[in-house]
Amino acid sequence: MTLSQAKTRHEELAAEIRRHDDLYYVQARPAITDQDYDRLYHELLDLEEQFKELRTPDSPTQRVGGEPVKSFRSEKHRVPMLSLDNTYSQAEVRSFITRVQKLLPHQQLTWTVEPKVDGLAVNLRYENGALAVGATRGDGTTGDNITSNLKTIRSIPLRLHPPSRRPLPAVLEVRGEVYMTREGFKKLNAERAASGLEVFSNPRNSAAGSLKQLDPRIVATRPLDALFYGIGAVDGDHVPQCHDDWLAWLKDAGFKTPEKIWICHSEDELIAAIDALDKIRHNFRYETDGAVIKLNDLPLREQVGYTAKAPRWAIAYKYAPEQAHTRLNEITIRVGRTGALTPVAHLEPVFLSGSTISRATLHNEDEIKRKDIRIGDTVIIEKAGEVIPAVVGVVMSQRPPNAEPFDFPGHLAGKCPVCGSPVRRDPQFSAWRCENIHCPAQATRRVEFFTARGALDIESVGGIVADKLVERKLAPEPLDLFKLTAEKLGELNLGDEESPRVFGRKNAEKAVAAIERARTAPLGRWLFGLAIPEVGKTTAGQLAAFHDTIEEVADSPLLKDVIAYHDKKKDKDKDESDAAAQRLLDAGFAARSKSEKETGIVTEVGPVVARSVLEYFASHEGREVLRRMKDLDLHPQSQKSAAKKSGGLFSGKTFVLTGTLPSMTREEAGSRIEALGGKVTSSVSKNTDFVLAGAEAGSKLDKAQSLGVRVIDEAEFLKMCAA
Ligand code: IVH
Repeated sequence: MTLSQAKTRHEELAAEIRRHDDLYYVQARPAITDQDYDRLYHELLDLEEQFKELRTPDSPTQRVGGEPVKSFRSEKHRVPMLSLDNTYSQAEVRSFITRVQKLLPHQQLTWTVEPKVDGLAVNLRYENGALAVGATRGDGTTGDNITSNLKTIRSIPLRLHPPSRRPLPAVLEVRGEVYMTREGFKKLNAERAASGLEVFSNPRNSAAGSLKQLDPRIVATRPLDALFYGIGAVDGDHVPQCHDDWLAWLKDAGFKTPEKIWICHSEDELIAAIDALDKIRHNFRYETDGAVIKLNDLPLREQVGYTAKAPRWAIAYKYAPEQAHTRLNEITIRVGRTGALTPVAHLEPVFLSGSTISRATLHNEDEIKRKDIRIGDTVIIEKAGEVIPAVVGVVMSQRPPNAEPFDFPGHLAGKCPVCGSPVRRDPQFSAWRCENIHCPAQATRRVEFFTARGALDIESVGGIVADKLVERKLAPEPLDLFKLTAEKLGELNLGDEESPRVFGRKNAEKAVAAIERARTAPLGRWLFGLAIPEVGKTTAGQLAAFHDTIEEVADSPLLKDVIAYHDKKKDKDKDESDAAAQRLLDAGFAARSKSEKETGIVTEVGPVVARSVLEYFASHEGREVLRRMKDLDLHPQSQKSAAKKSGGLFSGKTFVLTGTLPSMTREEAGSRIEALGGKVTSSVSKNTDFVLAGAEAGSKLDKAQSLGVRVIDEAEFLKMCAA
């Protein structure tokens, strides 16, 4: 095939595919089978493979052509993308009409009413009929260039259909709204829920999140669509002079336009149109939250003009969120990942804004009190653009005579509904919380505690990072942190889909290095980090001082003796109690009590703690921790035993630490030195063996140099440790 033959065939095929795309995606009247369409498409692909020059950006094969980008380029709008003033009452609509009429006293005005689509505003620039740039609204002056993402929306023409009546403008900007259909949104959320991903709260957020994706291949999988209701910059003559003509022109050129528009000549007609739209808008495939009222005549629009933010010739009328009345059957309490207890209303199922509702959020105790919501009440529920509806009030006239005020703590009987532990109201917030960090619902708290300073000191993984790691199931439990890679962690989205904020590779590498260091953190920190009930920092240190490994603590004869000593004393089994006391004294775990008689001893770790530790390691959770630590090759050692094992590499050596070390805190370096039998002191003298100096080391470094003490940096120190 010659190039010119290929060109002709390419033109034919592309035109045919465009025609079928339009029939299928814009007009919803497909004319061929999927197989026939695929045949045409593959012939086009093959042809472009053979003749690369035919692969132009507006070819039907180039819808998902772009490579992922690092960030979007900015796009300055040639004509600003303004917003609309909102009104919430018909009276305000009437005064808007009066206002405009006053500015155009002798004109017989024509108005249009059309749906206000709940999506994202975009601007498409066509140059000589081909889609050149697609951008978001941004701040109205400058948006993001999201051309590759917009090209994936099949109903957006990559090339304008030649208009039947007038020539194409050389530049034409078309403005409209990208949305996700209700149906597409439901399906997408169901798929996301099934694969453990965060679900979107409403179709608008879902569309916004999708358009912000940096990889057009992901955008292509999202059920996005778009419709167009206006124009921006236009370079060309003989273009329409009325809004309704423009809409007809755009439709002709291949765009989806509003489902229905009303042309009105009076206030009353206009109000009637707003009401008529309200009756049918729930049948649209996309969500709408209002009616947009626009002056039809474009030259008159220019006479009326603009404020800084919005045109004076248009206004949005917002419909009140739909409400429904239904019976509140029950209130249950949900336990969140951080331990917060949230009340959930269980409702008699009711149909509202297109779906059946049987649950709604009640926010917290104070909200229930403020609205005086009681079980058995007929409640008013509202869906304000969110998937989860809210209870906004009570129909007092329908309150059953026996309905009692809802007693939040009483309902809980003081106990967490998941684990049965005591609950407490957070004095700073309106939330009740379950106190038990081991409550199965509270994974975030466990991860956070584990990473805290004084525990495993992986602080970059605390707070929001911990919560997202749990939510996204990357580290649902603390020990899962040891399976994270910098690659996976770097991609973690700390925001939501709508406003993504990734953790980033650099932060991830730092965090993974901190996790790696935690592997060899001393036993005391581990015992503290596991949040064993009753084991605070001091107790953890005590336990570590008398045990070498975690397995030893788990099955500790000393702890058993502490319990035996107290139990037997209670049972008046003097021999057993004395024997236990003696063993504890021999081990140095107890001292003779001064206040009690000869046999009396005191231990820092009492029977309550001893029992709690042994019970923890005997519990399913504790056994799992031990098993997983073994699997992950985690064998924390007490400093004493680490020093013993390494043969006291630094024994007899004195270190002074100064300045900021590149990868570890001074505290961590100190722990290592001590673990290897060395000593850390605070001032440099001729007895100092090493000064470990980091950045911005001050007088200690000077002194070391003047005394001729050996100064080492972190790299050298680590080499010494590894020796
Ligand atoms: S006209 C200068 N028409 O509503 C006037 N906007 O609140 C520009 N919107 O940013 C807007 N449906 O994203 C217009 N039929 C419609 C609309 C519509 C939805 C959005 C648009 C705009 C926002 C203003």
